Amino acid sequence: MIIKVLGSAAGGGFPQANCNCRNCADVRQGRPGVQARTQSSLAVSQDGRDWVLLNASPDIRQQMSQTPELAPRPEDGLRSSPIKAVAVTNGDVDHVAGLLSLREGVPFALYASPTVLDALAANSIFNVLDPKIVPRVAMTTGVQIELAGGLLLEAFAVPGKVALYLEKAAPDLGTRDDDTIGLTISDPTSGARVHYIPGCAEVDAMLAERLRGAQLVLFDGTLYTDQEMIAQGLSSKTGKRMGHISMAGADGSIAAFDRLDVKRRIYVHINNSNPVLRDDSLERAHVERAGWEIAFDGMEIRL
Ligand code: MLT
Ligand code: MN
Ligand code: ZN
Repeated sequence: MIIKVLGSAAGGGFPQANCNCRNCADVRQGRPGVQARTQSSLAVSQDGRDWVLLNASPDIRQQMSQTPELAPRPEDGLRSSPIKAVAVTNGDVDHVAGLLSLREGVPFALYASPTVLDALAANSIFNVLDPKIVPRVAMTTGVQIELAGGLLLEAFAVPGKVALYLEKAAPDLGTRDDDTIGLTISDPTSGARVHYIPGCAEVDAMLAERLRGAQLVLFDGTLYTDQEMIAQGLSSKTGKRMGHISMAGADGSIAAFDRLDVKRRIYVHINNSNPVLRDDSLERAHVERAGWEIAFDGMEIRL
């Protein structure tokens, strides 16, 4: 299995267009030790020919241009794409807006939870994806779906939050329905398996059981500390309020994974405020000492 990180940043990207925080200012000025990142998306393939995108970010056009594997192959005629499927983990803008850039009439299958499919159906702009060409398939948690190319896709519910634009209608922000899901992709031939969880409010007992002993997990690396955006004067929201567990602290993901024996742990969906984005920071040294890697755009993993 081949896994490519198309975009390793959270919503807004790095630098974020309207942001003058220390990280954003430094990356904009080209300071060594900070690297620009596009928004949250992966591409996965069994054989390098047929690909599934996990999340479709607003930066999808740039990400596809930077990834030769995702370009149409000369032998496949005038119009084609190696992207056979797109699966999304929630309805957030950073994960679905890129669907609009895939509207050019080449078929693929779109997989999402029933809740997210409802959100897409309620936004008529997504009708640019003709259902005859782009079938929308509901993922039922715990049920495996066979993708073109032979990989198996399975969704599982994780503690999360409804999309920002749906908050008003939500009676309870802390949910564990299918507002936010994780995805497990496995290769039945080789036994390779990856878990992808770019948004997660908490590692509860059910999630811990699923991840225990895993080969590879790509996990929510939005914030280093819960108060980080408030402390930097960027926002009034904590990580918890945004549905994101932080890396550090007693209730953070580093501590939660300490007991799970996951062989390879990689942070994705990293917010521009996160100090781990600085190669020389103490926080980067801390997460690396704890056994974590920080994803970067173009990172490739073979299982
Ligand atoms: C998030 O990850 O919390 C969302 O992408 C926020 C947003 O929709 O802007
Ligand atoms: Mn996001
Ligand atoms: Zn910033």
